[in-house]
Amino acid sequence: MAMTKPATRPANPRFSSGPCAKIPGFSLDMLNDAPLGRSHRASVGKSKLAAAIDGTREVLGVPDDYRIGIVPASDTGAVEMAMWSLLGERKATMVAWESFGAGWVTDCVKQLKIDADIVEADYGQLPDMAALDWDTDVVFTWNGTTSGVRMPNGDAIPADRAGLSICDATSAAFAQDLPWDKLDVVTFSWQKVLGGEAAHGILILSPRAVARLESYTPPWPLPKIFRLTKGGKLNEGIFEGATINTPSMLCVEDYLVALDWARSVGGLSGLKARADANARTVWDFCEDRDWIANLADDPATRSNTSVCLKFTDGRISDAEAFAKAVQKRLEAEGVALDVGAYRDAPAGLRIWCGGTVETADVEALMPWIEWAFHAELDAQAQAA
Ligand SMILES: Cc1ncc(COP(=O)(O)O)c(C=O)c1O
Repeated sequence: MAMTKPATRPANPRFSSGPCAKIPGFSLDMLNDAPLGRSHRASVGKSKLAAAIDGTREVLGVPDDYRIGIVPASDTGAVEMAMWSLLGERKATMVAWESFGAGWVTDCVKQLKIDADIVEADYGQLPDMAALDWDTDVVFTWNGTTSGVRMPNGDAIPADRAGLSICDATSAAFAQDLPWDKLDVVTFSWQKVLGGEAAHGILILSPRAVARLESYTPPWPLPKIFRLTKGGKLNEGIFEGATINTPSMLCVEDYLVALDWARSVGGLSGLKARADANARTVWDFCEDRDWIANLADDPATRSNTSVCLKFTDGRISDAEAFAKAVQKRLEAEGVALDVGAYRDAPAGLRIWCGGTVETADVEALMPWIEWAFHAELDAQAQAA
Protein backbone atom coordinates (compact mmCIF):
# COMPACT_ATOMS: atom_id res chain seq x y z
CA MET A 1 0.00 0.00 0.00
CA ALA A 2 1.72 3.19 -1.18
CA MET A 3 1.62 6.04 1.32
CA THR A 4 1.54 9.65 0.27
CA LYS A 5 4.50 11.72 1.26
CA PRO A 6 4.05 13.80 4.42
CA ALA A 7 3.32 17.47 3.79
CA THR A 8 5.91 18.89 6.18
CA ARG A 9 9.68 18.54 6.08
CA PRO A 10 12.04 19.25 8.99
CA ALA A 11 13.40 22.78 8.61
CA ASN A 12 16.83 21.38 9.43
CA PRO A 13 17.46 17.78 8.28
CA ARG A 14 20.76 17.46 10.18
CA PHE A 15 20.43 14.54 12.57
CA SER A 16 24.05 13.34 12.44
CA SER A 17 25.57 11.92 15.62
CA GLY A 18 28.78 13.84 15.07
CA PRO A 19 29.59 16.39 14.01
CA CYS A 20 26.14 17.28 15.31
CA ALA A 21 23.76 20.03 14.20
CA LYS A 22 25.06 23.52 14.90
CA ILE A 23 23.13 25.70 17.34
CA PRO A 24 19.78 26.97 16.01
CA GLY A 25 20.23 30.05 13.85
CA PHE A 26 23.97 29.51 13.46
CA SER A 27 25.83 31.57 10.89
CA LEU A 28 29.54 32.16 10.34
CA ASP A 29 29.06 35.85 11.22
CA MET A 30 28.67 34.74 14.80
CA LEU A 31 32.40 33.94 14.83
CA ASN A 32 33.49 37.46 13.89
CA ASP A 33 35.08 38.05 17.28
CA ALA A 34 37.60 35.20 16.78
CA PRO A 35 41.14 36.57 17.19
CA LEU A 36 42.32 35.12 13.90
CA GLY A 37 45.95 35.61 12.94
CA ARG A 38 46.84 36.32 16.57
CA SER A 39 48.89 34.21 18.92
CA HIS A 40 46.89 32.01 21.25
CA ARG A 41 49.45 33.06 23.88
CA ALA A 42 48.62 36.77 23.43
CA SER A 43 46.28 38.11 26.11
CA VAL A 44 43.29 38.08 23.74
CA GLY A 45 43.92 34.39 22.92
CA LYS A 46 44.54 33.47 26.54
CA SER A 47 41.34 35.15 27.67
CA LYS A 48 39.29 33.27 25.02
CA LEU A 49 40.79 29.95 26.12
CA ALA A 50 40.18 30.79 29.78
CA ALA A 51 36.57 31.74 28.93
CA ALA A 52 36.11 28.34 27.24
CA ILE A 53 37.34 26.59 30.41
CA ASP A 54 35.29 28.79 32.75
CA GLY A 55 32.17 28.43 30.58
CA THR A 56 32.55 24.65 30.58
CA ARG A 57 32.75 24.66 34.38
CA GLU A 58 29.75 26.97 34.71
CA VAL A 59 27.40 25.25 32.25
CA LEU A 60 28.29 21.69 33.25
CA GLY A 61 28.53 22.42 36.97
CA VAL A 62 32.05 21.00 37.25
CA PRO A 63 33.30 21.26 40.87
CA ASP A 64 35.85 23.98 41.61
CA ASP A 65 38.55 21.49 42.56
CA TYR A 66 38.35 19.60 39.24
CA ARG A 67 40.79 20.69 36.48
CA ILE A 68 39.47 21.37 32.97
CA GLY A 69 41.87 21.33 30.02
CA ILE A 70 41.52 21.91 26.28
CA VAL A 71 43.48 19.19 24.51
CA PRO A 72 44.27 18.16 20.94
CA ALA A 73 42.66 15.40 18.87
CA SER A 74 39.09 15.74 20.01
CA ASP A 75 37.55 13.23 22.39
CA THR A 76 39.90 10.48 21.21
CA GLY A 77 42.86 12.65 22.16
CA ALA A 78 41.42 13.34 25.60
CA VAL A 79 40.62 9.68 26.34
CA GLU A 80 43.97 8.37 25.11
CA MET A 81 45.86 11.09 26.95
CA ALA A 82 44.15 9.96 30.17
CA MET A 83 44.71 6.26 29.50
CA TRP A 84 48.38 6.67 28.60
CA SER A 85 49.06 8.98 31.54
CA LEU A 86 47.10 7.24 34.30
CA LEU A 87 46.82 3.52 33.60
CA GLY A 88 49.30 0.86 34.67
CA GLU A 89 49.58 1.80 38.34
CA ARG A 90 47.04 -0.95 39.14
CA LYS A 91 44.87 -3.41 37.33
CA ALA A 92 42.29 -1.97 34.92
CA THR A 93 38.73 -2.91 34.03
CA MET A 94 37.79 -2.05 30.48
CA VAL A 95 34.06 -1.84 29.85
CA ALA A 96 32.49 -1.78 26.40
CA TRP A 97 28.95 -2.02 25.11
CA GLU A 98 29.48 -0.57 21.66
CA SER A 99 32.12 0.41 19.17
CA PHE A 100 33.89 3.33 20.87
CA GLY A 101 34.21 1.54 24.21
CA ALA A 102 35.60 -1.41 22.26
CA GLY A 103 38.24 0.93 20.81
CA TRP A 104 39.45 1.78 24.33
CA VAL A 105 39.65 -1.96 25.10
CA THR A 106 41.93 -2.40 22.07
CA ASP A 107 44.13 0.48 23.25
CA CYS A 108 44.53 -1.15 26.63
CA VAL A 109 45.04 -4.74 25.52
CA LYS A 110 46.96 -4.37 22.27
CA GLN A 111 48.88 -1.13 22.78
CA LEU A 112 49.41 -0.58 26.52
CA LYS A 113 49.33 -4.34 27.21
CA ILE A 114 48.44 -3.92 30.88
CA ASP A 115 46.69 -6.32 33.22
CA ALA A 116 42.98 -5.78 32.62
CA ASP A 117 39.60 -7.44 32.95
CA ILE A 118 37.40 -6.90 29.93
CA VAL A 119 33.67 -6.58 30.51
CA GLU A 120 31.48 -6.38 27.43
CA ALA A 121 27.80 -6.37 26.55
CA ASP A 122 26.03 -6.67 23.22
CA TYR A 123 24.60 -3.71 21.37
CA GLY A 124 21.41 -2.72 23.18
CA GLN A 125 22.60 -3.78 26.62
CA LEU A 126 24.54 -2.30 29.52
CA PRO A 127 26.91 -4.53 31.51
CA ASP A 128 26.27 -4.94 35.23
CA MET A 129 28.25 -1.87 36.27
CA ALA A 130 27.66 -2.47 39.99
CA ALA A 131 29.43 -5.82 39.71
CA LEU A 132 32.70 -4.27 38.51
CA ASP A 133 35.75 -4.10 40.75
CA TRP A 134 35.98 -0.34 41.28
CA ASP A 135 39.25 -0.75 43.15
CA THR A 136 40.74 -1.23 39.70
CA ASP A 137 40.87 1.66 37.23
CA VAL A 138 37.63 1.44 35.26
CA VAL A 139 37.44 2.86 31.72
CA PHE A 140 33.93 3.18 30.27
CA THR A 141 31.68 5.29 28.06
CA TRP A 142 28.77 7.17 29.65
CA ASN A 143 26.62 7.21 26.53
CA GLY A 144 27.34 4.60 23.88
CA THR A 145 26.90 6.69 20.76
CA THR A 146 26.65 3.70 18.42
CA SER A 147 24.17 1.65 20.47
CA GLY A 148 22.11 4.38 22.09
CA VAL A 149 22.65 2.81 25.52
CA ARG A 150 23.70 5.02 28.40
CA MET A 151 24.44 4.85 32.10
CA PRO A 152 21.15 5.76 33.83
CA ASN A 153 23.02 7.37 36.76
CA GLY A 154 26.16 6.95 38.85
CA ASP A 155 24.67 4.67 41.53
CA ALA A 156 26.83 1.73 40.42
CA ILE A 157 30.04 3.65 41.13
CA PRO A 158 31.09 3.49 44.79
CA ALA A 159 32.06 6.75 46.47
CA ASP A 160 34.91 5.00 48.26
CA ARG A 161 36.46 3.34 45.19
CA ALA A 162 40.26 2.90 45.27
CA GLY A 163 40.65 2.97 41.49
CA LEU A 164 39.99 5.81 39.08
CA SER A 165 36.77 5.99 37.07
CA ILE A 166 37.73 7.15 33.60
CA CYS A 167 34.68 8.15 31.59
CA ASP A 168 34.31 8.95 27.91
CA ALA A 169 31.29 11.25 28.12
CA THR A 170 31.43 12.76 24.66
CA SER A 171 27.82 12.15 23.66
CA ALA A 172 26.51 12.71 27.21
CA ALA A 173 28.07 16.00 28.32
CA PHE A 174 25.56 18.87 27.91
CA ALA A 175 22.61 16.45 27.64
CA GLN A 176 22.80 14.19 30.68
CA ASP A 177 23.72 14.53 34.34
CA LEU A 178 27.28 13.52 35.09
CA PRO A 179 27.80 12.68 38.79
CA TRP A 180 31.10 14.46 39.31
CA ASP A 181 31.83 12.91 42.69
CA LYS A 182 31.77 9.49 41.01
CA LEU A 183 33.97 10.43 38.05
CA ASP A 184 37.74 10.98 38.12
CA VAL A 185 38.29 11.61 34.42
CA VAL A 186 35.65 12.95 32.05
CA THR A 187 36.25 13.64 28.38
CA PHE A 188 34.23 15.04 25.51
CA SER A 189 34.66 16.83 22.23
CA TRP A 190 33.12 20.05 20.99
CA GLN A 191 31.67 18.45 17.87
CA LYS A 192 29.01 16.55 19.81
CA VAL A 193 26.15 17.87 21.94
CA LEU A 194 26.85 21.58 21.49
CA GLY A 195 27.32 21.20 17.73
CA GLY A 196 30.84 22.64 17.93
CA GLU A 197 33.78 21.94 15.70
CA ALA A 198 35.94 18.82 15.74
CA ALA A 199 39.67 18.64 16.55
CA HIS A 200 39.55 19.81 20.16
CA GLY A 201 38.77 17.77 23.24
CA ILE A 202 38.08 18.59 26.85
CA LEU A 203 39.78 16.65 29.61
CA ILE A 204 38.42 17.00 33.15
CA LEU A 205 40.38 15.61 36.10
CA SER A 206 39.31 15.04 39.70
CA PRO A 207 41.73 15.73 42.56
CA ARG A 208 42.28 11.95 42.78
CA ALA A 209 43.27 11.80 39.12
CA VAL A 210 45.71 14.67 39.69
CA ALA A 211 47.14 12.85 42.71
CA ARG A 212 47.73 9.79 40.53
CA LEU A 213 49.48 11.90 37.89
CA GLU A 214 51.78 13.36 40.53
CA SER A 215 52.57 10.05 42.23
CA TYR A 216 52.91 7.65 39.31
CA THR A 217 55.00 7.65 36.15
CA PRO A 218 53.96 5.16 33.49
CA PRO A 219 56.67 2.83 32.19
CA TRP A 220 56.01 3.63 28.51
CA PRO A 221 57.16 6.67 26.54
CA LEU A 222 54.70 9.57 26.34
CA PRO A 223 54.66 11.82 23.29
CA LYS A 224 54.67 15.55 24.04
CA ILE A 225 51.02 15.77 23.06
CA PHE A 226 50.07 13.42 25.97
CA ARG A 227 52.28 14.93 28.69
CA LEU A 228 50.20 16.32 31.56
CA THR A 229 53.04 16.67 34.07
CA LYS A 230 56.30 18.57 34.25
CA GLY A 231 58.99 17.48 36.71
CA GLY A 232 56.53 15.16 38.44
CA LYS A 233 53.96 17.93 39.02
CA LEU A 234 50.75 18.63 37.12
CA ASN A 235 51.33 21.08 34.28
CA GLU A 236 48.77 23.54 35.64
CA GLY A 237 49.11 25.80 32.60
CA ILE A 238 47.18 23.30 30.46
CA PHE A 239 44.22 23.77 32.80
CA GLU A 240 44.38 27.55 32.60
CA GLY A 241 44.34 27.68 28.81
CA ALA A 242 48.05 27.33 28.01
CA THR A 243 47.38 24.48 25.60
CA ILE A 244 50.12 21.93 24.81
CA ASN A 245 50.14 22.95 21.16
CA THR A 246 48.35 25.48 18.99
CA PRO A 247 44.54 25.41 19.12
CA SER A 248 42.21 26.76 16.43
CA MET A 249 40.93 30.10 17.69
CA LEU A 250 38.06 29.76 15.22
CA CYS A 251 36.97 26.53 16.92
CA VAL A 252 37.41 28.17 20.33
CA GLU A 253 35.18 31.08 19.26
CA ASP A 254 32.61 28.65 17.94
CA TYR A 255 32.59 26.83 21.30
CA LEU A 256 32.19 30.14 23.16
CA VAL A 257 29.21 31.00 20.96
CA ALA A 258 27.71 27.57 21.61
CA LEU A 259 28.19 28.03 25.37
CA ASP A 260 26.38 31.38 25.17
CA TRP A 261 23.52 29.71 23.36
CA ALA A 262 23.50 26.96 26.03
CA ARG A 263 23.12 29.64 28.72
CA SER A 264 20.28 31.24 26.72
CA VAL A 265 18.24 28.02 26.77
CA GLY A 266 18.64 27.58 30.51
CA GLY A 267 22.07 25.97 30.80
CA LEU A 268 22.40 22.28 31.52
CA SER A 269 18.81 21.80 32.66
CA GLY A 270 17.53 23.52 29.51
CA LEU A 271 19.81 21.40 27.33
CA LYS A 272 18.69 18.20 29.05
CA ALA A 273 15.03 19.16 28.64
CA ARG A 274 15.55 19.80 24.91
CA ALA A 275 17.27 16.44 24.39
CA ASP A 276 14.63 14.65 26.48
CA ALA A 277 11.79 16.19 24.45
CA ASN A 278 13.49 15.21 21.19
CA ALA A 279 14.18 11.65 22.31
CA ARG A 280 10.67 11.25 23.75
CA THR A 281 9.25 12.15 20.34
CA VAL A 282 11.15 9.24 18.80
CA TRP A 283 10.40 6.84 21.67
CA ASP A 284 6.67 7.59 21.47
CA PHE A 285 6.70 7.09 17.71
CA CYS A 286 8.29 3.66 18.19
CA GLU A 287 5.97 2.67 21.02
CA ASP A 288 2.94 3.23 18.80
CA ARG A 289 4.30 0.97 16.06
CA ASP A 290 5.15 -2.71 15.94
CA TRP A 291 7.75 -2.49 13.17
CA ILE A 292 10.37 -0.27 14.77
CA ALA A 293 11.95 -0.35 18.24
CA ASN A 294 14.66 1.18 20.34
CA LEU A 295 17.93 -0.76 20.23
CA ALA A 296 18.32 -0.22 23.98
CA ASP A 297 16.59 -3.13 25.77
CA ASP A 298 16.05 -1.44 29.13
CA PRO A 299 14.12 1.85 28.94
CA ALA A 300 16.21 3.20 31.85
CA THR A 301 19.31 3.00 29.65
CA ARG A 302 17.83 4.62 26.52
CA SER A 303 19.98 7.49 25.30
CA ASN A 304 18.42 10.92 24.90
CA THR A 305 21.13 11.94 22.38
CA SER A 306 22.07 9.11 20.03
CA VAL A 307 18.72 7.36 19.67
CA CYS A 308 19.33 4.04 17.90
CA LEU A 309 16.46 2.17 16.28
CA LYS A 310 16.00 -1.25 14.71
CA PHE A 311 13.34 -2.45 12.27
CA THR A 312 11.46 -5.41 13.69
CA ASP A 313 8.99 -6.26 10.89
CA GLY A 314 9.05 -9.96 10.00
CA ARG A 315 8.61 -9.18 6.29
CA ILE A 316 12.09 -7.63 6.08
CA SER A 317 14.38 -10.12 4.36
CA ASP A 318 17.75 -8.35 4.57
CA ALA A 319 17.96 -6.06 7.62
CA GLU A 320 21.13 -4.31 6.50
CA ALA A 321 19.95 -3.58 2.96
CA PHE A 322 16.51 -2.51 4.20
CA ALA A 323 17.82 -0.02 6.76
CA LYS A 324 20.28 1.42 4.25
CA ALA A 325 17.53 1.84 1.67
CA VAL A 326 15.28 3.62 4.18
CA GLN A 327 18.15 5.91 5.10
CA LYS A 328 18.78 6.65 1.42
CA ARG A 329 15.14 7.54 0.86
CA LEU A 330 15.19 9.95 3.80
CA GLU A 331 18.36 11.54 2.54
CA ALA A 332 17.08 11.79 -1.04
CA GLU A 333 13.97 13.59 0.24
CA GLY A 334 16.20 15.99 2.17
CA VAL A 335 14.43 15.17 5.43
CA ALA A 336 17.22 13.41 7.36
CA LEU A 337 20.96 13.41 6.72
CA ASP A 338 23.38 10.88 8.23
CA VAL A 339 20.84 8.77 10.11
CA GLY A 340 22.21 5.33 9.20
CA ALA A 341 23.38 3.09 12.05
CA TYR A 342 27.12 3.25 12.75
CA ARG A 343 29.15 0.92 10.54
CA ASP A 344 29.89 -1.61 13.33
CA ALA A 345 26.42 -1.46 14.91
CA PRO A 346 23.32 -3.56 14.12
CA ALA A 347 21.35 -2.40 11.07
CA GLY A 348 18.91 0.41 11.71
CA LEU A 349 18.63 4.16 12.10
CA ARG A 350 20.34 6.53 14.51
CA ILE A 351 18.71 9.88 15.11
CA TRP A 352 20.64 12.52 17.01
CA CYS A 353 18.43 14.19 19.59
CA GLY A 354 20.90 16.47 21.43
CA GLY A 355 19.82 19.98 22.37
CA THR A 356 20.87 21.73 19.17
CA VAL A 357 18.17 19.79 17.33
CA GLU A 358 14.71 21.40 17.37
CA THR A 359 11.83 19.24 18.61
CA ALA A 360 9.65 20.46 15.74
CA ASP A 361 12.19 18.95 13.33
CA VAL A 362 12.14 15.58 15.10
CA GLU A 363 8.33 15.69 15.02
CA ALA A 364 8.38 16.47 11.31
CA LEU A 365 10.79 13.61 10.64
CA MET A 366 8.66 10.85 12.21
CA PRO A 367 5.98 10.65 9.46
CA TRP A 368 8.79 10.52 6.92
CA ILE A 369 10.27 7.45 8.61
CA GLU A 370 6.84 5.85 8.41
CA TRP A 371 6.61 6.79 4.73
CA ALA A 372 10.12 5.51 3.92
CA PHE A 373 9.48 2.25 5.77
CA HIS A 374 6.32 1.51 3.78
CA ALA A 375 7.86 2.66 0.50
CA GLU A 376 10.77 0.29 1.05
CA LEU A 377 8.53 -2.63 2.05
CA ASP A 378 6.55 -2.08 -1.17
CA ALA A 379 9.76 -1.94 -3.20
CA GLN A 380 10.95 -5.15 -1.55
CA ALA A 381 7.63 -6.91 -2.28
CA GLN A 382 7.69 -5.81 -5.91
CA ALA A 383 11.27 -7.02 -6.36
CA ALA A 384 10.42 -10.46 -4.91
C1 LIG B 1 31.54 7.56 22.64
C2 LIG B 1 32.51 8.16 21.68
N1 LIG B 1 33.81 8.16 21.97
C3 LIG B 1 34.71 8.70 21.13
C4 LIG B 1 34.36 9.27 19.93
C5 LIG B 1 35.40 9.86 19.05
O1 LIG B 1 35.25 11.22 19.08
P1 LIG B 1 36.22 12.20 18.27
O2 LIG B 1 36.11 11.79 16.83
O3 LIG B 1 35.66 13.52 18.57
O4 LIG B 1 37.59 11.97 18.80
C6 LIG B 1 33.01 9.30 19.58
C7 LIG B 1 32.58 9.91 18.29
O5 LIG B 1 31.50 9.73 17.83
C8 LIG B 1 32.07 8.73 20.47
O6 LIG B 1 30.78 8.76 20.16
